[in-house]
This record gives sequence, structure tokens and C-alpha cells, in this order.
Amino acid sequence: MSALRAGISALGAYAPERVLSNADLEGMMDTSDAWITERTGIKTRRIAAEGEFTSHLAIGSVDDLVARHGDGVLEGVELVIVATNTPDALFPATAALVQDHFGLRAGAFDLLAACPGWLYGLSVARSYVESGALKKVLVVGAEALSKIVDWDERATAVLFGDGAGAAIVEAVPDPFGFRSFVLGTDGSGAAYLHRRGVAPCLPDGTPMSEHLHMNGREVFKFAVRVMDTATHRALEQADLTPEEIGLFVPHQANLRIIEAARERLALPAERVIVTVDEYGNNSTASIPLALKRGLETDRVHEGDHLLLVAFGAGLTWAATVLTWGGFGARR
Ligand code: ACO
Repeated sequence: MSALRAGISALGAYAPERVLSNADLEGMMDTSDAWITERTGIKTRRIAAEGEFTSHLAIGSVDDLVARHGDGVLEGVELVIVATNTPDALFPATAALVQDHFGLRAGAFDLLAACPGWLYGLSVARSYVESGALKKVLVVGAEALSKIVDWDERATAVLFGDGAGAAIVEAVPDPFGFRSFVLGTDGSGAAYLHRRGVAPCLPDGTPMSEHLHMNGREVFKFAVRVMDTATHRALEQADLTPEEIGLFVPHQANLRIIEAARERLALPAERVIVTVDEYGNNSTASIPLALKRGLETDRVHEGDHLLLVAFGAGLTWAATVLTWGGFGARR
């Protein structure tokens, strides 16, 4: 009998209704559509309503998963993981709120690994499934970053948005499923991107604020470097070359970072998903939203090799190669 292979068998995603355009931002702060477009590629982002928080967005993405795959898709889910940087509460976990909403007989926990959190969540789910410990895991990435952005700080306010994505991870037949995972962290870069929790400062004494703080230049340099190294390592471990990748689904933070990664992989533009223009950077939600766009625009087919990569606070990074399909009529 061949070893178990885990894969994504269902996907859903959700973005809140309110669209905030660059023109809207021009009316709120000293910025311009030209500056934002040239430096980031972002044109619009989605913003959660006043009473809408991460749990609502997470539930929206699971509702979409059910709408796309049928009522039975949640049957047998044994674990809910919500990757988020903006949980409704420090406790209980936002995952517990999702578990309760859908009445799942499942364990539930939140996972904090910044923007690569959804990929970290997939890697955890994969390990549970491939070890035989669990059969079906729901992995959500959900973010209400607009609630922690400093709207008086133009260098960060223009970059971020809100959204959520959800996937079911379960066993798929060979040759489908996850082929490699690369996870990495360099905690010495903690000062470059942070927002306080219960402590007022980092261990080295760097003060932290109530708002998202970012050193854009340092994060940019780090991002370009790790997008390159992590994708190449993930490909190597999957025993594939860049030419064999059907679709590249990078974290949607900045078009220039995506372009740099695409060039280093020598991939044509049609094999890269870009949604940052529309959604801005919604952290853990960005890859599932981008993957859903790939499915909806018929750019993902059974047997395609997909390359997913993300970077973020920590500093952290993650990449995976996944062979899409193997779940029959369920998608
Ligand atoms: N509108 C107009 N001008 C602005 C704005 C704005 N919104 N923001 C900054 N500026 C000005 C600055 O004040 C500066 O002016 P100065 O030269 O007079 O001092 C000038 O523009 C250049 O600023 P830089 O910060 O050097 O601009 P840069 O080209 O580095 O672009 C950016 C900034 C877009 C933030 C870039 O550094 C970047 O994308 N970094 C990576 C960010 C990222 O990916 N973060 C996400 C990581 S993890 C996660 O997803 C949570």
C-alpha cells in the first residue's frame, strides 16, 4: 500500500463588501493614486464593516466553501485551524468561534505565523493527515487588518486590506497533493514588522505600538530574497523545475515583489496570479483568495503543479508545491 498523500480537496474565499480605492485614500491622507500604483500595484482594497471582525470573515470564507462544494463538505472535519494576525480575542481562539458557528465536532486552535500563516496551517494539516492521526482538517486564513492599521500613517495605511480563505485538507490519491513544504523564520527581524500584544516592547526593548508598524524598505529586501530562496528550495524538494509549474500563487503584498519573484523563476506572466491590485495585502487571506481566482478563471487544471509562497512578520516565510486534483467530483 502506498503512503498517504494530503492535498487540498475544497477551497472557498471571502472579501468584505466595502471597496476602498486609491482615490478614496487621496481624500483621507497626503497620498496619490500614482504613488500607490507605481510603488505597490494596488488600486483597491476591501475593508471590513464597523461590526465585522476576523471571525465573521472566516465564517464568510467557509460559507463560500460550502456554497462551492456542497453541504457535505464539512462532514467529518476533525480539526479547525485559523491562521490570523488579527484574532477577535487573544482567547478564545477565533477557530473556536468558527467551530461553534458550523457546529463541528472538532478541535480548534489559532495559528500565528504572520502572512505565511495559511501555508503554515496547511503544513500542520498535512502532517496530521499523512500521519493518519486525522482524516479531515479545515484550514482558514482570515484577517481584519484595517482594524489595526494606523490610518494616519500613509506609508502603511495604503497597503493593507481585509479578507479570508478556507480549505479542506484530506488524503488524495497519488500523484496528487502536497509534494514539498519549506518553512523558515528569522526572529532577528522582529523589529521590522510588529504590533503589540500583551507586552509593551520586544525582548530587546524595542517599543511596540497599538498599530501595525513596518519598516517597508527592510521588509521589501527580505521579501525579494526569501521569495527566491524558498521557491527554489520547495521546487528542489518536489523534484520539479520552474518550467514544470502550471501556476505560481505568491503572497499578494506588492506587485514589484511578485514581479521580482516571477523573473527569478523565469515564469511567463500568464503563469502568475495577481490579485494585489484588487485586494491589497490581506495577509493570511491573500493566497487562498488568489488561488480561488485561479480556479475561477480556469487557470488551474487537474494534475497542474502549483507553487505557493509567502513572507511576513517574524520574519517568517513558507513555500509549498502542490499537485492539484485527485478529489473527483467534489470540487
Ligand atoms: N503616498 C505618498 N508618498 C508616500 C507614501 C504614500 N502612501 N508612503 C510613503 N511615501 C513617501 C515617503 O515619505 C518617502 O518620502 P521621502 O523620500 O520624502 O522621505 C517616499 O514616499 C519613499 O518612501 P519609501 O518608504 O522609500 O518607499 P518605497 O519605494 O520603499 O516603497 C513600500 C514603500 C511600498 C512600503 C515598500 O517598501 C514595500 O512594499 N515594502 C514591503 C512591504 C510589504 O511587503 N509588507 C508586507 C509584509 S508582511 C505582511 O503582509 C503583513
